[in-house]
Amino acid sequence: MKQNIIPTKARKVRKAVIPAAGLGTRFLPATKAIAKEMLPIVDKPTIQFIVEEALKSGIEDILIVTGKAKRPIEDHFDSNIELEQNLLEKGKTELLKLVEETTDINLHFIRQSHPKGLGHAVLQAKAFVGNEPFVVMLGDDLMNITGNETPLTKDLINDYEKTHASTIAVMKVPHDDVDKYGVIDPNGEVSKGLYNVERFVEKPNVDEAPSDLAIIGRYLLTPEIFDVLETQVPGAGNEIQLTDAIERLNKTQRVFAHEFTGKRYDVGDKLGFVETTIEYGLEHPQIGANLKNYIIEKAKELSQDDSKNITKK
Ligand code: UTP
Repeated sequence: MKQNIIPTKARKVRKAVIPAAGLGTRFLPATKAIAKEMLPIVDKPTIQFIVEEALKSGIEDILIVTGKAKRPIEDHFDSNIELEQNLLEKGKTELLKLVEETTDINLHFIRQSHPKGLGHAVLQAKAFVGNEPFVVMLGDDLMNITGNETPLTKDLINDYEKTHASTIAVMKVPHDDVDKYGVIDPNGEVSKGLYNVERFVEKPNVDEAPSDLAIIGRYLLTPEIFDVLETQVPGAGNEIQLTDAIERLNKTQRVFAHEFTGKRYDVGDKLGFVETTIEYGLEHPQIGANLKNYIIEKAKELSQDDSKNITKK
C-alpha cells in the first residue's frame, strides 16, 4: 500500500541537479570534445538557460554532473579576469555585464566517471542533496525561453509545497513519438493538470503506451529516490534509467505528474536544436529583424523551387 512518508514539516526546495555527463552522440562530431549542454542557441549555451530557470525558480544551490568534457562548463561559469579587464578597458560595458552574469552563482560540480545512464548521473548528487527535496533539470529541454511565464521548475516547486511529494513534468506528445520517452499511466487528476500516476514506463512500444503524456526534462524528487537508485538495475539501452527508479519510488510513496502546456524546445535533437535557434533568434534584439527578413526571402525562394518541381512533373 502506498503511503505518504514525507515528514510533516515541509522542506524548502533549494537545490537543483543538472546532469550534463551524457555522450551526446546525436551531435557528434560537435560533442567529441565539449558537452552538448555547451552548444549555444545563438549566443547562449543551453546549460545557461537551465541555470537561469533554476535561479528564477528560487533555487539557491546547483550541482552540475559532468563527464569527460567538464572544463568548458566550469570555465563558462567562472570569472575570466583577462576577458573582463579587456572589455572594461574597451568600454564594452554591455558585454561585460553579460559575461559577469554567468559568475557569482552557487554552482558545484561532480564527475560521473562512466555514462551509465541518467539515473546513475542523478545518484552522483546524493551527498550534495542530503535529506532534502530537489529538482533535476535536463539541458535537452528548454521551456518558454522567449516568454515571461512562470518557469516550469517553479510550478513543480509550487506543487511540492501543496503535496510534499515527488512531481514529474509531463507533456502531450504525438502518439507515434511515445517510444522515445518515459510515459505515464495517469490515474485521475487531483487538481487541474496534476495527475496521480499508476505507472511510469520507459520507452514503451507505440502500441502498448499507456498514454501520450511523456516525461520531459524537469523532475522534483524526494531524497528517498537515492535509496532506490542505489539498487536500480540497468533498463532500456542497458542504462540505469531514472524513470525505472521513479516507478519503484511510486510503489512506496505518492508520485504525481504535472502537465506542462507551454512551449518546449527539444534541443537534444538536431532538428529541434535548429528550430529553437530560429525561434530564439527571431526574438533576439540584435539579429531578430534581419533573421525575419532572411526567412521570408528564403521561404519565397523555396516555394518557387517547389512550384518549378511541380510544373516539371
Ligand atoms: P540523453 O538520453 O539525451 O543522452 O541524456 P546523451 O548521451 O546526452 O545524448 P545522445 O542521445 O547520445 O545524443 C539525457 C540527459 O542526461 C544526461 C545527459 O547529459 C542529458 O542531459 N546524462 C545521460 C548523464 O548525465 N549521464 C548519463 O550517463 C546519461
